Amino acid sequence: MKILYFTATGNSLHIAKELGGELLSIPRMDKQGIYEFSDDKIGIVFPLHAWGVPSYLVDYLKKVTFHCDYLFAVTTYGVYSGAVAKHLTDIGKEGGYTFDYINRIMMVDNYLPTFDMEKEKAKEPKKKIEEQLAAVKSDIEASKKWILKENFIQKATFNYMAKREGRPFNEKRLKVHVYAEPIDNYLVLNDNCTGCGVCASVCPVDNITVDKENKNISLSNKCFMCFACIQNCPSNAIHIKGEVNGNRFRNSHIKLSEIVQANS
Ligand SMILES: Cc1cc2nc3c(=O)[nH]c(=O)nc-3n(C[C@H](O)[C@H](O)[C@H](O)COP(=O)(O)O)c2cc1C
Repeated sequence: MKILYFTATGNSLHIAKELGGELLSIPRMDKQGIYEFSDDKIGIVFPLHAWGVPSYLVDYLKKVTFHCDYLFAVTTYGVYSGAVAKHLTDIGKEGGYTFDYINRIMMVDNYLPTFDMEKEKAKEPKKKIEEQLAAVKSDIEASKKWILKENFIQKATFNYMAKREGRPFNEKRLKVHVYAEPIDNYLVLNDNCTGCGVCASVCPVDNITVDKENKNISLSNKCFMCFACIQNCPSNAIHIKGEVNGNRFRNSHIKLSEIVQANS
């Protein structure tokens, strides 16, 4: 079994590791130009963004070819999973593949612009993550065929947004809804920056250049708002203008070095 995964703060990597098999980081595969995969079972594990698949993954998934008997996807999310199964199914149709199984696991919500990470972490026990994981794992081991059901309102909202934006809204670079421009224009670096370069290493799209001498960073225009740079900064030096507070999150099972390894 192969599992392709993307993670910004470790939730999806924790799930991918627990599901087992050979783990393949999507940013690494993308940077190496690898788009074809063969195995008996292949899975994708990723964080949900804006009720669907993050724009960066949409682009990647539209390029891939899968040769397998069983294709599954598991998304990790915080509160509301919108129309992610519909979105994935549509992406598969465009890419020429069909998912046998799509499910979700509710975890800590890492959406920094509106949530206090400490409050989100405090909700973790109620989410019973290990129980959700055990159920999904046993489904996949049994090659269960099942697609997450979404209701009319979930799909209609997704379709409405797609129509309004000209294509599924999360296939564009996401904007923080309360801001008028892409997130790059709202990032602030404070004096804590040591120029260590971790932000650049955890950025899946190589959007960050670090000036180690002057302890400064500059961004190009590829950010799709995963917040890996902000959440994983060892000196808590990167902030979003208007953020709730400076609290940060990384999944307790995952080390910073694993995220660096996955995304650099
Ligand atoms: C830009 C962005 C958008 C998000 N949108 C949603 C959402 O629509 N619904 C939701 O429940 N969680 C949402 N989340 C939360 C993440 O899906 C969740 O915390 C995920 O488990 C993070 O996985 P990771 O640690 O592997 O990056 C969003 C997070 C980010 C960064």
